[in-house]
Amino acid sequence: MRVLHVAAEVFPLVKTGGLADVVGALPQALRRRGADVRLLLPGYPAIADALPNPKTIVELGPLFGAGRVALRLGEMPGSEVPAYVVDAPWLYRRAGGPYQAGDGSEWPDNLQRFALLGWMAAHVAGGELDRDWQPTLLHAHDWHAAMACAYLAAHPGNTVPSVFTVHNLAYQGVFPAGDFAQLGLPPHFMQSHGIEYHGQLSFMKAGLKYARRITTVSPTYAREIATHEFGCGLDGVIRGRGGDVSGILNGVDGAVWDPAADAGLAARYTAADLAGKQRNKAALRAEMGLEARAAAPLFGVVSRLTAQKGLDLVLAALPALLRLGAQLVVQGSGDPVLEAAFSQAAHAHPGQVALRIGYDEALAHRVIAGADAILVPSRFEPCGLTQLYGLRYGTLPLVRRVGGLADTVVDADEAALREGRATGFAFDAATPAALEAALERAVRAYAQPEAWRRLMKTAMAQDFSWDGAAAGYLALYQRLAGGRE
Ligand code: ADP
Ligand code: GLC
Repeated sequence: MRVLHVAAEVFPLVKTGGLADVVGALPQALRRRGADVRLLLPGYPAIADALPNPKTIVELGPLFGAGRVALRLGEMPGSEVPAYVVDAPWLYRRAGGPYQAGDGSEWPDNLQRFALLGWMAAHVAGGELDRDWQPTLLHAHDWHAAMACAYLAAHPGNTVPSVFTVHNLAYQGVFPAGDFAQLGLPPHFMQSHGIEYHGQLSFMKAGLKYARRITTVSPTYAREIATHEFGCGLDGVIRGRGGDVSGILNGVDGAVWDPAADAGLAARYTAADLAGKQRNKAALRAEMGLEARAAAPLFGVVSRLTAQKGLDLVLAALPALLRLGAQLVVQGSGDPVLEAAFSQAAHAHPGQVALRIGYDEALAHRVIAGADAILVPSRFEPCGLTQLYGLRYGTLPLVRRVGGLADTVVDADEAALREGRATGFAFDAATPAALEAALERAVRAYAQPEAWRRLMKTAMAQDFSWDGAAAGYLALYQRLAGGRE
């Protein structure tokens, strides 16, 4: 089974969120199960310059405004996953983020940048660009790669099926209808049963309409996106796909997230020997300027600061958290209003609330290892990875019961405690009061060291490995490929 994965970010080269973690880990897990997987990625400097000795597969004339486009093939550093890079300096070689300039504004040519990505993927799948390798199946991730499904559908004589994975329905890649001519697709693609979306055009809708199968990153989110509440205006399209939509939970990359081997920690630890966990807490408090109060539980947040993550609830519940005697450490970046509010909270409560604004992978490990519990009170959450990292590190997740959070955390209610299944704390309403009630339960549990230790051990025993997810994807690929190898 040959599979081409198409995506706009990949850990450890370019990462804005969990998508990169998935694209870094899933192909490796699929390869361990015997699949012949390759990646196809945009040639941002961080990617194009990181692959040692790439081989030029083909050079093409002007495409999507880029004068020169080349397809090169290299290998992901640190893994053996072959990666095609779309080398189009005009579109990708610039400082700034994958989707935005340094000032936070969207790149004005994102239509061309991600149309080219999809076009190249579809033509590798079509077999014209690399004569030595043609995938059995194409797998596109999120709106940035979604046009691959449309170009494949438009490709004459195409027999390669596509899978489209929705990592986050809230980001859709919507552009003015007038840009349609630049896409080079037949006119019927710009209809309501195609990529037309309320008088504009939508890359996300291209994936949802033209992929043979749609997956999302948890079973609960797969059900949620068919509803008005979570469908971001596309729930009708999702419902229209009926049984073609399913959920496969993400995993944890154990080579990156493992408390027993994490080189960046003050101390390593296992479920059998938790002593190191306390050393990490002490080190984190010292690093963050938090008081070393023996009985105080430390709650952590590692997150993009966006409306999705429900961190306004944490701000509203902060007085209650402090009243309960707990401390808070927040690592994140994003919305300037949230950054300012957390910064104000840290100033108002020195020694009890600490904030680090910015993106720092190593610090994320120290926060997740050093905190007692990790807060993920999201308004919606397709899967969520930080609660999975928390489980693995014995840092109990306190989550809102939505999407992948509902699928991965077992609330410490009476029955789950009695049966030894509990792994964290969950609440339902997106209100400060509901979060406060969950915080109170967590602080009460923390005050009983034996009970808390049992929860930690159960959490650390959970198996959210990529191997399970890879098995799920492979079964799906095999059904779609209908016996073709
Ligand atoms: P999302 O993709 O919606 O942001 P996930 O929980 O799936 O949410 O993934 C977030 C990923 O980004 C995790 O790997 C998390 O550790 C990381 N992350 C989030 N914010 C930061 C930050 N400020 N610094 C370092 N890593 C971060
Ligand atoms: C998105 C979602 C997050 C998910 C990640 C990886 O960024 O917001 O919930 O874990 O993709 O699939």
